[in-house]
Amino acid sequence: MKVAVFYFTQTGQALAIAKSVCQPVEAAGVEVVYRAIEPVTPFPYPWSYMDFFQLMPETRLYMPAPIKEPDFSGVEDADLVILSGQSWYLSPSQPIEAFLQNERARAFMKGRPVVTLNGCRNMWAMGQKEIRKQLALAGAHYVGYIVLQDEHPNLVSLFSIVSWLFYDKKDAHGLIPHAGVTDSNISAASRFGTPLLKALKNADFSNLQQELVDLGSVPYRSFLVFVETVGHRMFGKWAKFCRKKGGPNAQERSTRIFLFSLYVFFALLVASPIALVLYYATYLLRIPGIKRKKKDLLFNLADK
Ligand SMILES: Cc1cc2nc3c(=O)[nH]c(=O)nc-3n(C[C@H](O)[C@H](O)[C@H](O)COP(=O)(O)O)c2cc1C
Repeated sequence: MKVAVFYFTQTGQALAIAKSVCQPVEAAGVEVVYRAIEPVTPFPYPWSYMDFFQLMPETRLYMPAPIKEPDFSGVEDADLVILSGQSWYLSPSQPIEAFLQNERARAFMKGRPVVTLNGCRNMWAMGQKEIRKQLALAGAHYVGYIVLQDEHPNLVSLFSIVSWLFYDKKDAHGLIPHAGVTDSNISAASRFGTPLLKALKNADFSNLQQELVDLGSVPYRSFLVFVETVGHRMFGKWAKFCRKKGGPNAQERSTRIFLFSLYVFFALLVASPIALVLYYATYLLRIPGIKRKKKDLLFNLADK
């Protein structure tokens, strides 16, 4: 049996997650082949303020920068494909989106079971919808997904992610806690490999997502999904507004990109705490909708 893992990562987090999930699979003698998804032009890391925000319009509009042709040699007979990446701007990161749109990758995934992994701050739900849509268009058999995230409160992880992505400081310092997924959560992700191995051995993935969810694979926080839904819509408007002044890194759009960056901090620091109060004040009315959305997001993997 063979598993092909395609991943993109800047800091190594998405690869570490994939290796942990695959650990029981590899220990059982299944061959696991790791292949990096490589952008034609590497993205900067750590990020400068403007480079970081310049990326939003094309990320949100699913117009990713090109990747090098993925290498499928030696994995043509893979029994399972794992795609490991991260959220960028409430969307799949550009390299993951580029892979999902790549014609050869689509042909490779067609008819094959696919599991996706996401190591993000805490906003993965809208990107998840895009991933399932792209996998359905590719004709892949989407059988499960796993999300690992920063478990600090939303506002706290905002400060730690800035420190991590802009200054490459991942460890706790001063008042700022550790950023990203903790090492212990990454190593605990090996528990997801057990149902994965069982499904592989039986060539039956029909109950995999349920078993992963039972093990805590999807950290569903309804308020954050609400914030994401609103944010995703707003980012879409901002993306179109910015692109009217030009494409990636066009100098002419810098003012709009800068205004967008102010909007993001305003939305996270001011608007979302107010929304939190209003959200829980009307929580009882929201319960039926929350249940419906949660069921759809967790178990409807084939939706276009
Ligand atoms: C440009 C950019 C945008 C990001 N946007 C989000 C986001 O919308 N939601 C989220 O939870 N995390 C977001 N993150 C954090 C990433 O999902 C991820 O956790 C982090 O970049 C580390 O991933 P990696 O080292 O595996 O590439 C963003 C990171 C970058 C670089």
